[in-house]
Amino acid sequence: MKVASNLPPVIAIDGPTASGKGTVAMRVAAQLGFHYLDSGALYRLVALASDKEGISVEDPSALGHLATGMQIIFRDGEVLLAGKDVTELIREEKIGTRASQLAVYPEVRDALLVLQRSFREQPGLVADGRDMASRIFTDAVLKVYLTASAQARTERRYKQLIAKGISARMDVLLQDLQERDARDTNRGTAPLQRVEGAYLLDTSDLSVDQAVTQVLNWYAKLHH
Ligand code: CDP
Repeated sequence: MKVASNLPPVIAIDGPTASGKGTVAMRVAAQLGFHYLDSGALYRLVALASDKEGISVEDPSALGHLATGMQIIFRDGEVLLAGKDVTELIREEKIGTRASQLAVYPEVRDALLVLQRSFREQPGLVADGRDMASRIFTDAVLKVYLTASAQARTERRYKQLIAKGISARMDVLLQDLQERDARDTNRGTAPLQRVEGAYLLDTSDLSVDQAVTQVLNWYAKLHH
């Protein structure tokens, strides 16, 4: 049991790309009536906005400046950037890749710090990303490291894309996923990691329902 605090409780769910953490985090938040933060969407928004404005992915100070001034609204599962619906656009693979390239810069990460913490409101928050437990919400009452094998994650991403009518190749997706893993794990600033005290949840052989139930069980146990 953690030390009681007046701040709303946070459940931090970190993990690699296509591990299913977004789906699980959203469902856990809905079950508990908590707010939800998709921190990856913020990095994707920086990727999209900077791409549109012709800012190089190798210009940390311009990227950081842009990240500080973004006008973002999350509303009913939709994401608005400067008043425009970009929900679908930020999900594109090329935007995900660009997001992981600019996420290595402290200038970008620092610019998003306060914004991410502002999502912490009553009655609580479920936050998913790479550094939710290690940096943004170090006092999270529950920390989960959610992962799955590279094969399982590639298959999931493949099915997602095909379902959306986007053509994809398994071998290309697997390679992209491995590159993204390497970049997220090996960077100097806020690398993807399983922090001490985080529960490991390997979803390779679990359904979404089973993963959600496991997280809810861990959370319920905190109160006994
Ligand atoms: O959908 P997927 O899991 O591939 O990615 P995402 O969670 O939407 O995040 C996109 C990229 O943003 C990741 O590859 C990370 O490099 C970066 N990211 C990060 O550095 N820190 C976070 N808290 C969340 C995302």
